[in-house]
Amino acid sequence: MAFIDLRSDTVTLPTEEMRKAMANAEVGDDVYGEDPTINRLESLAAEIMGKEAAMFVPSGTMGNQVSVMTHTRRGDEVIMEAESHVYYYEVGAMAALSGVQARPVPGVRGVMNPEDVKRAIREPNIHYPKTTLVVLENTHNRGGGKVLPLENVKTISEIAHSNGINVHMDGARIFNAQVASGIPAKEYAQYADSIMFCLSKGLSAPVGSMVAGSKDFIERARKNRKMLGGGMRQAGILAAAGIIALTKMVDRLQEDHDHAKLLGEKLHEMGYGVNPEDVETNMVVVDVTVVGKDVHAMEKELKDRGILANANSNKTLRLVTHYGITAEDITKTIDAFNDILRQ
Ligand SMILES: Cc1ncc(COP(=O)(O)O)c(C=O)c1O
Repeated sequence: MAFIDLRSDTVTLPTEEMRKAMANAEVGDDVYGEDPTINRLESLAAEIMGKEAAMFVPSGTMGNQVSVMTHTRRGDEVIMEAESHVYYYEVGAMAALSGVQARPVPGVRGVMNPEDVKRAIREPNIHYPKTTLVVLENTHNRGGGKVLPLENVKTISEIAHSNGINVHMDGARIFNAQVASGIPAKEYAQYADSIMFCLSKGLSAPVGSMVAGSKDFIERARKNRKMLGGGMRQAGILAAAGIIALTKMVDRLQEDHDHAKLLGEKLHEMGYGVNPEDVETNMVVVDVTVVGKDVHAMEKELKDRGILANANSNKTLRLVTHYGITAEDITKTIDAFNDILRQ
């Protein structure tokens, strides 16, 4: 059976155009800075984000971790939202690789209250670690694809900077934020000293993420990337797909948002626990316990009907729309949820 795979937008496959561009990519040794396709992608990424420079990395996780490593020193403290990817899903990398300590601040659907951020900043004291970085995630994965309000980003950034603290944005899905809000990615990025964003999620490239920032920051980050084993050679084969992701695949994300909205509305009408207002981008988080279902049993019942979705808590399933999911797939998914209820 061909499954309708709503587990994540990381399952997207490269387009035909990407495969052709990859096959024909002009390449060189990128560790020597000699891969023309990588150089083109990095210039494009820097320009789109309004930054001086950018660097290709194999994954979003490496992009975040190289950024944390570049901004901090061992023993520092990093403030981030309590459900953020960098804290929740990166295998303890901040502690293991950079030797820094996390200061998680609980937010509402991923949005931290600036006053809470202010309170979490350490004052100078011989006993305290030094706060050197704030991480913001936009859109927020565990927040159900929530777009950070620009004003929130600006206020937190001002608080951080006035305390001599840098800001890193995990913008794995920054273009989902752009498409949903109409605010260009660079307007969010202007408040961050570095931004990571992914080419391999809704934008459909097979591999890769970018880190953008000042020239000095990216130079230092390149050294850390090399240390972590992320210095790649003829990586232009991957960059060729990334260029298409950035130039041709961004506006298409609206389709994913429309599909997610429709799913949210229909599941709400059926009585599942989802507020359609909360569906801002390509994710729908559904509380199945309100209709008396166990989340893992529900995963299985959906799978039996050809739909893949992951539980992201003991109550909720997360459905992620993406390139390759059609309007017909959405109808089938709605029908499956209906069918399960009527059993
Ligand atoms: C918000 C966020 N940041 C970072 C990542 C990490 O990306 P990767 O899977 O490429 O390491 C993800 C992956 O889903 C994510 O959702």
